[in-house]
Amino acid sequence: MRSKVSVIGAGNVGATCAFRIAEMGIADVVLVDIVEGLPQGKGLDMLEATPVLGVDVNVIGTNGYEETANSDIVVITSGIARKPGMSRDDLIQTNSKIVEGVTENVVKHSPNCIIVVVCNPLDAMCQMALHVSKFPKHRVFGQSGVLDNARFRTFISQELNVSVTDVFTCVLGGHGDTMVPVISLCTVGGVPITDLIPKDKIDEMVQRTVNGGAEIVNLLKTGSAFYAPGVASAQMVEAILLDKKKILPCSVLLEGEYGISGVYAGIPCKLGKDGIEQIIELKLSPDEDAGLKKSAEAVRSLLPIMGI
Ligand code: NAI
Ligand code: 2OP
Repeated sequence: MRSKVSVIGAGNVGATCAFRIAEMGIADVVLVDIVEGLPQGKGLDMLEATPVLGVDVNVIGTNGYEETANSDIVVITSGIARKPGMSRDDLIQTNSKIVEGVTENVVKHSPNCIIVVVCNPLDAMCQMALHVSKFPKHRVFGQSGVLDNARFRTFISQELNVSVTDVFTCVLGGHGDTMVPVISLCTVGGVPITDLIPKDKIDEMVQRTVNGGAEIVNLLKTGSAFYAPGVASAQMVEAILLDKKKILPCSVLLEGEYGISGVYAGIPCKLGKDGIEQIIELKLSPDEDAGLKKSAEAVRSLLPIMGI
């Protein structure tokens, strides 16, 4: 029997993620959205692409949760992005309510699923999904680090004119502002980037990665990035469904790792059929360690706003 993945939110990120999963042919996909016709239309369009893609998967769209029943994985992308004039608190209030309601429905229909959270503010939304689902933490985690690393890898590959596949980067912590790059672990073909790129250029690329989301928003003007976020989320789904035991950065609940407890942060994890199968503990410099703790505390400060 084929695996089943439900993607909640059939907007830009959700649809891109759903299409990538279908394109890989690794699962049937159910797209859910509150807008009537939107998930149905996108789902049918994706289904009609499968003969051309040569994959045998089913894709459907719906405004309810019945069709999501017994999903193996649920990806939550439903939520709004920050608009001009809106405070960070407004975004948290709105999206945490959306994630709360969505998670209740997800748990009701797929009590054994793995939840991959994507909507922002990412680490706080993971915390809400964990709180509502009461799932073990290895089944509730978030995507942000795959995207942040993909951005950093892109900039390094452009700078050195090398294949993106030869570039390995390591960024920890929160999505965006509180990201913690571990430069000593960033390599190209096994060679440290510090041997290949001057420090001021590395700093510039780190800053561009931190501002990666804003750079796209400024270009698009009407929305935020979705191709790279969509495929980044689908890569996590693939690692789980195919039990790849792949090391990918995930936003995960820390319980003592890195000296941090009770809060989500982006950390490299082993992803396999059980979700997070291992949290990798890296040796950090004092500055990196302080940066990660600062990032975690920034997430913790958002919890009272969500009432958890
Ligand atoms: P979008 O506006 O294109 O799509 C969001 C969709 O969610 C809309 O179709 C909307 O109708 C739907 N929705 C709202 N409430 C819902 C509910 N209760 N149930 C089901 N569907 C609901 O937005 P986009 O660009 O897809 O972004 C989605 C979220 O992902 C945003 O919060 C954004 O900030 C975040 N994001 C996170 C990234 C990451 O790396 N973690 C990267 C890019 C975006
Ligand atoms: C991004 O980094 C907005 O989180 C989104 O593109």
